[in-house]
Amino acid sequence: MSLGTGIRLADLIAAICFVLALRGLTGPKTARYGNLLGAGGMTLAIAITFATNGLTHFLLIVGAMAIGTVIAVPAARLVKMTAMPQMVAAFNGVGGGAAALIALATFLRAPAGSLAVYEVVEVLLGVVIGCVSFSGSCIAFAKLQEIMTGRPITYPGQQVWNGIVGVAILGLGVTVCVSSFNWLVAIVLVLALAFGVAFVLPVGGADVPVLISLLNSFTGLAVAASGFVLHSVVLVVAGTLVGASGTLLTQMMSRAMGRSLPNILFSAFGSVITATGGAEGDTTRSVRSASAEDVAILLAYANKVIVVPGYGLAVAQAQHTIRELADLLESRGVQVIYAIHPVAGRMPGHMNVLLAEANVPYEQLKEMDEANPEFQSADVALVVGANDVVNPAAKNNPDSPIYGMPILAVDEARNIVFMKRSMRPGFAGIDNELLFDPKTTLLFGDAKDSLTKVVAAIKAL
Ligand code: TAP
Repeated sequence: MSLGTGIRLADLIAAICFVLALRGLTGPKTARYGNLLGAGGMTLAIAITFATNGLTHFLLIVGAMAIGTVIAVPAARLVKMTAMPQMVAAFNGVGGGAAALIALATFLRAPAGSLAVYEVVEVLLGVVIGCVSFSGSCIAFAKLQEIMTGRPITYPGQQVWNGIVGVAILGLGVTVCVSSFNWLVAIVLVLALAFGVAFVLPVGGADVPVLISLLNSFTGLAVAASGFVLHSVVLVVAGTLVGASGTLLTQMMSRAMGRSLPNILFSAFGSVITATGGAEGDTTRSVRSASAEDVAILLAYANKVIVVPGYGLAVAQAQHTIRELADLLESRGVQVIYAIHPVAGRMPGHMNVLLAEANVPYEQLKEMDEANPEFQSADVALVVGANDVVNPAAKNNPDSPIYGMPILAVDEARNIVFMKRSMRPGFAGIDNELLFDPKTTLLFGDAKDSLTKVVAAIKAL
């Protein structure tokens, strides 16, 4: 077998690994295997690149890989689950930037006029999409890391300005294709970077994870364009898969939030301050708060308890303590299940990953559609650090910004217990009427502290 045939075969195997990796990542049981397959495919793809004839700057490439490894391995190992979205944003931005640089380098190295129009189009796609993804991801990272405000930043005529920049990029791109003004590519690059920033500024905190997923799909497309530029089959396949899966994920997240993608991108959602609550929530009305001992009695003598985890569970790192409580309740004959909302937390599958870390059996995790009919027969819905995903305003109040978002039917349980620290609203910044419901009890405090106290109180019963 010739080297060329061997490389094409290895390309095919790497591509198959990527497809199977995605398949594996669709379920918690197969996710690890999927991850390993993806890493294996990527290792093979890198090996193919080194085996390709004509590879130059070997030491520079190995040096860059070493620096990348030294930064990425500790970052991935040490990142807190709650900081995962910003890490994805940072890594995604680097990917987009790399794709743009590859396309640009190919363009600059080619002798003037030697590239066919379709090749210039490929270069421009790589540069523009890669730059938008890079600068957009940088702003998304800064928002999530709270280096800058997470609120939408808007100014008069914002979308018109964005449109003008978009049209300018298109016009300059066409000019580059049909003329010899190659230097215009530098202006295209700067405008694309500016467009990425302007595109992300009006998107508010709660919507940034959806935006990151969209930017992720942009990076995939930029990588695929670079693959065409470099005539690399495996880069085209990998980029297309990232682009397609990012697009699907964006759609699924939008649907789970009950909003359209244009609404998420252009409505500056999250600047909404509620009439009563604002940042501190509604503190004018009274609520029923209880002690850990009261909650312990309610839970210990229930037949069926549904745990509803949310972002606060991740903040408090209370996954092990909730598992301990569930085990304790089950040992007393109480049926315990977990109801998982698709956008609970701050990233897709956030709660599944968190609970898997505490070895909660998969059979106890129920997705929203499966969990909702269970609430009617539940004695207690135990809401641990969740808010928006149980807010009945989403189904009862057409004026609410989250109206239409499918929610967990916690309000149908006989008793509701909220564990949270204050009356502050959730990520969407909207008060939750359920906190004032007569069948609701609030146990104020950090979720891990509260759960630890409840566990101790049940043991003492
Ligand atoms: P949120 O609505 O954000 O509510 C989190 C709750 O946790 C808050 O009420 C907060 O109240 C409480 N909390 C925070 N830290 C806590 C701690 N240490 N101990 C106890 N409680 C704590 O969370 P959710 O219900 O999971 O909803 C997720 C939100 O993110 C939705 O709006 C969703 O649309 C949005 N979002 C999610 C995703 C994905 S893919 N998951 C993507 C984009 C947007 P206190 O401050 O009073 O404690």
